[in-house]
Amino acid sequence: MLDAVKVLTVPGLAAMKRRNEKIVALTAYDASFARIVDDAGVDLVLVGDSLGMVVQGQQTTLPTTLDDMVYHTRSVARGIRRAVLAADMPFVSYSCPARAIDSAARLIRAGACMVKIEGGRKRVEIVRALVDQDIPVCGHLGLLPQSVHQIGGYLVQGKDERAAQTILEDAMILQEAGAGLLVLECVPATLAGEITAALDIPTIGIGAGPDCDGQILVLYDMLGITPGKRPKFSRNFLQGVGDIPSAIRNYADDVKAGRFPASEHSF
Ligand code: KIV
Repeated sequence: MLDAVKVLTVPGLAAMKRRNEKIVALTAYDASFARIVDDAGVDLVLVGDSLGMVVQGQQTTLPTTLDDMVYHTRSVARGIRRAVLAADMPFVSYSCPARAIDSAARLIRAGACMVKIEGGRKRVEIVRALVDQDIPVCGHLGLLPQSVHQIGGYLVQGKDERAAQTILEDAMILQEAGAGLLVLECVPATLAGEITAALDIPTIGIGAGPDCDGQILVLYDMLGITPGKRPKFSRNFLQGVGDIPSAIRNYADDVKAGRFPASEHSF
C-alpha cells in the first residue's frame, strides 16, 4: 500500500502565509529529481522555463517552447506526491487571452496546478482570463528573464524609488486581478519586504532577500552544477554534503528556519 501523503494545494500555500510558515520552492525538470525534491519537503515545485538554459544549454529562456514545457511538466508531475506543481508559460505563449488559455490548458492537462507568467499591469487581462477559467496564476515581477533583450541583461530591478513604486503597484494590480502567488526576482530586499507586507497572497523570492513568504532557487544552481558563475543569490548546498537528497533537505530546512537567504545572497 502507498504511504498516505497529505497533498498540498494552492489555497494551502496561502494558508501557510497566514500562519507565517515559510514556503520552500525549487525548480525541477524530470521525474527522478521531482521525487527527491518532493520527498525533501519542498512545498512548491516549478517547472521553470529556465530549463532552456540549464537543461538545453541555451543562452536565455526565450527558445523554450510550450512543447518543451508540456513534456517536462508531464515528467515532473509523475514524480510528485505532495508539493504544488507550477509550470512556466514560455515566451509569447500568453500573447493574448485566448492563446494564454490554450497554453495554460496544455500545462494543466500535463499535471500543473498553477501557471506562472512574467510581467505586471500589462498582463492584467491575461491573469483575469486565466482565473476566469479557474486556472491559478502565479505572477512574476522584478527581473523578467523573458524581457532580457528589453532590459539589457540580467540586472537587479527596482533600485530607484520610481522603479520600486512601479513594481509595488504592479504587485497590487496582479493580486487584484486574481493572481494567487507572486515570484519576486532580483529586487532589493527592502522592496520585497514591503511588497510581502502589502499583499495577502504569498511572495516567493529569488534574489529578493529574507522577508518574502517563501524562497525559490533553480535546482541546478543550488546543486552547483550549472555551468559558469553561481548567481550571487544562490548557494551551493551540495558542497561539503556529498549527496543530493541531503543537500535539498538542508535547503528546505534553511528556508523554513529563515537561515537562507543570508545578507550575502541579497541585494
Ligand atoms: O524559470 C525559472 O526557473 C524561474 C525561477 C527562477 C523563478 O522562473
